[in-house]
Amino acid sequence: MSFAPQPQHAAPRSPIRGPALPFGLAVTAVGILLSLAGAPIADAGRDELAMPQPLVVQDVPAVEVGATTAADPCSEPSVIEAITAADDDAIIAGFGGAESFRAAVIAGNAPCVALADPAHVWVVVNKARPLAPIDFAPGSLADIPLQMTTSSGQARADVASAAGEMADAAAAEGAGRIGANNGYRSYDLQVATHASHVRSSGQAHADASSARAGHSEHQTGLAIDLVACDSRCGAIESFGATAQGEWIAANAWEYGFIVRYEQVGSGITGYKPEPWHLRYLGRDLAAAYHHGGYHTLEEFFGLPAAPDYAH
Ligand code: DAL
Ligand code: ZN
Repeated sequence: MSFAPQPQHAAPRSPIRGPALPFGLAVTAVGILLSLAGAPIADAGRDELAMPQPLVVQDVPAVEVGATTAADPCSEPSVIEAITAADDDAIIAGFGGAESFRAAVIAGNAPCVALADPAHVWVVVNKARPLAPIDFAPGSLADIPLQMTTSSGQARADVASAAGEMADAAAAEGAGRIGANNGYRSYDLQVATHASHVRSSGQAHADASSARAGHSEHQTGLAIDLVACDSRCGAIESFGATAQGEWIAANAWEYGFIVRYEQVGSGITGYKPEPWHLRYLGRDLAAAYHHGGYHTLEEFFGLPAAPDYAH
């Protein structure tokens, strides 16, 4: 894990924010600016994979900013302790909660938080942000406690356990049984998966539905593809239209997950919608994402759109 300061983004800098501004005020000012500059996009009928559109300012539900007033949250004893313990929830709490955490990261006031570090729930992986190292593998994995339709049935332990809890809640609420297709995929498996897509549908279509190796969230252990299991488990492609898919779209955030690739965000992510692909962020960040009305992780963290690979 690296704690060296790193540039995270290309978000606009506020002319009213300077080094002398107290952190709480800076967070508020930057939050307002980003609400204007990076507010979730409104889009009902965009073509899949259209070029990124100008972001439309719309009303975003107010999100309470946490209470920290630290000028340098990374120097807070609670944050230092949480970093030492590699406790992501405690690190976020030390910043004053998910919204303060997000604002500090965007403002460049969180040098101890690296959005490129795949060991953390906040890692952002996309076509412009490969994993580092490119063949990264999680330190440990656990079995996903769901019926699986492939042999890729593992994820990080916290992710596997949250997925089980979420599926139990869906069943208890009458949405039906949820199974899973793929959890963790290694670099090598992603090479084979993507190559298979290229063989069957060509490079452009493959790149719109399958990440190149080193660019997949599945390689972090933080992603799971869900399926609906009624009399039998269906395919991932039919998940969105099922009762289970609708329940997940509405409720996954409460269990720490987001639907990572939505139609509305296709121009930013470069992927066709995948209502089955859930990305674990942890409950605090997922709640901030949901309440903030975001549709891509790139917007959430003020990062540039990444619809294409550089090469
Ligand atoms: N299908 C998603 C984009 C992946 O391959 O990670
Ligand atoms: Zn997936």
